[in-house]
Amino acid sequence: MRKEIIAGTLALSLMAATSIAATALPDWTADAAGLAPFAQAMRARDDAMLDQRMLGRSFFSIPWVAAPAATTARDGLGPFFNANTCASCHEDNGSAPTIDADGKPLRALLFKLARPGAHNARMATDTPESPDHARMLDPHYGGQIAINATGHATPEARPRLETHKIAYRYHDGAEVTLERFTPKLDNLAYGPLAEDTVIFTRQPPALAGLGLIGAVPDAEILAWEDPEDRDGNGISGRANRMADGAIGRYGWKAAEPTLIAQIANAAAVDMGLTNSRYPVELCQPGQTACIEAPRGRPSPQGLLDLPDTRLAAIETYLEGFKAPQPVMLDAQAVRGADLFAAIGCTACHRPALSTADGREIRPMSDYLLHDMGADLADGVREHEAGPSEFRTAPLWGLGARLRAGHRFLHDARARTPEEAILWHGGEAAKARKTFISLDPAARAAILSYLETL
Ligand code: HEC
Ligand code: HEC
Repeated sequence: MRKEIIAGTLALSLMAATSIAATALPDWTADAAGLAPFAQAMRARDDAMLDQRMLGRSFFSIPWVAAPAATTARDGLGPFFNANTCASCHEDNGSAPTIDADGKPLRALLFKLARPGAHNARMATDTPESPDHARMLDPHYGGQIAINATGHATPEARPRLETHKIAYRYHDGAEVTLERFTPKLDNLAYGPLAEDTVIFTRQPPALAGLGLIGAVPDAEILAWEDPEDRDGNGISGRANRMADGAIGRYGWKAAEPTLIAQIANAAAVDMGLTNSRYPVELCQPGQTACIEAPRGRPSPQGLLDLPDTRLAAIETYLEGFKAPQPVMLDAQAVRGADLFAAIGCTACHRPALSTADGREIRPMSDYLLHDMGADLADGVREHEAGPSEFRTAPLWGLGARLRAGHRFLHDARARTPEEAILWHGGEAAKARKTFISLDPAARAAILSYLETL
């Protein structure tokens, strides 16, 4: 009940805010209708911060090369990697194309591996010495397939998608063709996968307002938890908790508690950049060329490709990203915003969160896990997130992602927000059912509202 009241008042204040001109938006927000809302940065506190950000941006967007190289600052790529810059998968700091017109996967779509019964796919990549390591990962390929390699190592496999088309028809006769994919791996270079290895895919989320998300106190997120569904609305969000009790916020299953943890993981797993959290190259026992590949030159921090100072610079760069917000809604989108709240979308896509320093941000997510049903399940656990549980996807910047031609949902199966809604199940089944029961004009109003975000 409490949630409904909050959602209602926020919808009203949102509608009031939308009639105010652009100048009313605070300077840490970006006009969501602008060209590249993710690429904009907040004002830096001082020159030192500005320098850090510029350094961070260079590590984010200038290609890394294999070690040892004349350019010592950016060598250490690989031996295995998926792309040589962060920006390859986060174009203009957003997402990136993941599947081409022929249904072929592009490099930004990660093919990951886990074994059922493994408690924690993500943690397993960090210490090969941990007792559960072998049980959780594929013994020959680890937790992620590298489609590229430096020097003499052979890339691990060539990913492919098997496409299945599913026709959907609304009660009024309107039709949508949904797509879903079965991930496959060809040219496996290091022997077959283990019998029980599951292949699953993940697309890059857009990198909006990351520092602002980090500034939301745990208590603000936990206030919306309702694991026993005490308010009886069919929705029982809960936070993903790490072994040390920290609350997960980043990634499709909220499996990383802090921005620095997420960056360290991306650097090691996606680009082969060792760092203090992942000090060992992610080569599996049989991958001799990977194990024997030349390492970077020693730096004051040791042999790490990405010493802590550089990791911190990337963090400072990402923390500066603005929050995309709608500047003005037309009448149809205002109606859509109202319907979005009325049919229960805001029960998970929470309209506002407060940061510790009192800023009200609108990522349109509660940062909690929800059971999304069997159709979206990927068979994988990450910390406490089960196979069908996902973090409510933040919707800010959705319009820019749509205009860039990027796809939706964790495995990029949806070409449009409408397809994404039709895949909602589990705790979101009721909201989906209400959405499909609406008349075409009401559905169009909701979709038009989503495009303004
Ligand atoms: C090969 C593609 C690829 C590369 C390269 C890559 N990422 Fe990502 N990024 C992803 C994918 C896929 C996810 C989602 C991972 C998940 O949830 O399992 C992601 C997630 C993230 C997130 C979490 C965003 C959120 O909303 O929770 C951040 C932050 C991030 N990446 C930063 C980086 C940085 C910094 C680099 C460079 C060091 C980088 N990424 C390199 C594909 C990539
Ligand atoms: C029970 C919680 C819940 C409810 C209710 C809910 N959603 Fe979602 N939504 C999610 C989760 C979780 C995801 C991510 C699922 C995934 O990637 O597999 C998501 C993803 C989306 C996406 C795709 C975003 C992206 O980044 O790919 C859109 C669009 C969306 N929801 C719109 C809606 C609309 C419109 C409604 C109301 C009809 C709604 N949602 C109701 C939890 C919910």
